[in-house]
Amino acid sequence: MESMKKILVTGAKGQIGSELVPLLRKKYGHENVIATDIKDEEEGDAPYEILDVRDGKKLAGVVDRYGIDTIFHMAAILSATGEKNPQLAWDVNVGGLYNVLEVGREKSLFRIFIPSSIAAFGPETPKVNTPQDTVLKPRTMYGITKVIGERLGEYYFWKYNLDVRGVRYPGIISSKTLPGGGTTDYAVEIFYEALRKKRYTSFLKPQTRLPMMYMPDCLKATLMLMEAPLENLKHHTDFNVAGMSFSVEELALEIKKRIPEFEIDYEPDYRQAIADSWPESIDDSAARQEWGWSPDYDLPSMVDDMLEKLRIKLGL
Ligand SMILES: NC(=O)c1ccc[n+]([C@@H]2O[C@H](COP(=O)([O-])OP(=O)(O)OC[C@H]3O[C@@H](n4cnc5c(N)ncnc54)[C@H](O)[C@@H]3O)[C@@H](O)[C@H]2O)c1
Repeated sequence: MESMKKILVTGAKGQIGSELVPLLRKKYGHENVIATDIKDEEEGDAPYEILDVRDGKKLAGVVDRYGIDTIFHMAAILSATGEKNPQLAWDVNVGGLYNVLEVGREKSLFRIFIPSSIAAFGPETPKVNTPQDTVLKPRTMYGITKVIGERLGEYYFWKYNLDVRGVRYPGIISSKTLPGGGTTDYAVEIFYEALRKKRYTSFLKPQTRLPMMYMPDCLKATLMLMEAPLENLKHHTDFNVAGMSFSVEELALEIKKRIPEFEIDYEPDYRQAIADSWPESIDDSAARQEWGWSPDYDLPSMVDDMLEKLRIKLGL
């Protein structure tokens, strides 16, 4: 088997999955991409299964039934939701991931994608230009599950020859599906509020600077890594990938240039502590060297595109 032929996506109804699935279907064939999620939302004639990733038996059954060779494992509990319910975050993120890796091992799957996050870093990690190989001492349950995911995926690669790959996504900004309970959600909400109400109250402080990425770059990175020749990879499950970095006030200013009436104020909540433990910017030279990564969008081009897409979506 030398390419992805039958693909299963877990967490397919989430922010990333809901844009990844149509892209994969276009590239690999409508009927060759099986979307799954706990959400009960059928998709017409497209293959869809309700699947809780904590149910390893059902996962194995779906993999058998469709002859799956590749999994994009997008199901997870994100950082902010994870801090509200750490036990659930552990169950889904660690238990679900273990089930995916085990099914990969048992059925000798071709390739598996498991996303990590900038949440794998912690306060002791260098904040600016965070290196590829560095201190991983996260303080959130979400971050802890992501470090476990990176290490476990790498273990299955060395121990069982299972081709597991992953990137540390930064905060993902998109115009289609709302984000699912992360600390960078403000960078999507702000656009909706700017267009609808001309004002936004940020749950992070003005100077909080975080690594971010526009959805087209997120999808590009995901597919580029999954299509890269295995022999080129020195890292596997933990690639740093950078898109752009900005502070809340820099984003607000960029929106104000395009919507002059826009006003922002600040009421930091529990998510501030999470954001404070994460890096400001990321060194992604390993991804650039090993699989040719480079992003297409910077802050101004992302803001232009978001406003254009959301104006259409909101009928403005
Ligand atoms: N969006 C980001 O900014 C970001 C940043 C870093 C990493 N990531 C990672 O990327 C992946 C996808 O993230 P996303 O933003 O699409 O998340 P999301 O929260 O938008 O979507 C996750 C999906 O998983 C589903 N899900 C939850 N529990 C499940 C379970 N037990 N079984 C099956 N499905 C379940 C949810 O219904 C949801 O549709 C996750 O691993 C996440 O940690 C995302």
